[in-house]
Amino acid sequence: MDIILLGPPGAGKGTQAARLVADRGMVQLSTGDMLREAVKAGTEVGRKAKAVMDAGELVSDAIVSAIIGERLDTLDEGTGAIFDGYPRTRPQAEALDLLLAERGRKLDYVIELEVDEDALVERITGRFTCATCGAGYHDTFKRPKVEGTCDVCGSHDFKRRPDDNAETVRTRMAEYRAKTAPILPFYEARGLVRRVDGMADIDEVTQAIEAILDGKA
Ligand code: AP5
Ligand code: MG
Ligand code: ZN
Repeated sequence: MDIILLGPPGAGKGTQAARLVADRGMVQLSTGDMLREAVKAGTEVGRKAKAVMDAGELVSDAIVSAIIGERLDTLDEGTGAIFDGYPRTRPQAEALDLLLAERGRKLDYVIELEVDEDALVERITGRFTCATCGAGYHDTFKRPKVEGTCDVCGSHDFKRRPDDNAETVRTRMAEYRAKTAPILPFYEARGLVRRVDGMADIDEVTQAIEAILDGKA
């Protein structure tokens, strides 16, 4: 089963994808994570992407569709993919159809996380992760149990994304509204879109998504 998680920055795409990976053995394909890895590794793609990402704008369609194609080639037929943060434009949506068809795969659902944008700025600007194991935390909603120490691995090293500041978040939201939200009708016409309340508790959101994947909603 292949699905897209769609929603603005901070909607919870990454949070929910991690749960589906743990619960169902699916694989998360996050173009944001892949691009951040490329930036860190200093590859050519990373060098091209860095300034664009820091400004909260979109990296070129050709780059992101190429990296998704490469990742899809590493998946077994039976392993489901969760597209997180891809596609983000109409050309990317069309490219994804082709990439899937070429590999005998098909899209089962497009799950839209419906959220209140104003609440998202707080979610995003307070977010940080453990630099060692990647566990996620939040200044207000989820501090480590012992200040300055990761609950999961005991590391004292934390990091924040350079694009998680209030100004860049506004640009990322505007990009979502202008370029990404307009791909919904493309999938609605095929009956693939399901909506989930992304403002509910994290567990409730997971349950709602799993009910859809199990054909119970
Ligand atoms: P990307 O990494 O995809 O960032 P994004 O879409 O802006 O989304 P985020 O990762 O910020 O949010 P999320 O929905 O994953 O939320 P999360 O689960 O972390 O992209 C970054 C950049 O890369 C782009 O700006 C662009 O430049 C480039 N890029 C990437 N893909 C591209 C593409 N396809 N084309 C072109 N350019 C591309 O949750 C956020 C916080 O909220 C966390 O702290 C979490 O704990 C908390 N939280 C989550 N759910 C809940 C809940 N239900 N209740 C309370 N708190 C919650
Ligand atoms: Mg994310
Ligand atoms: Zn850790």
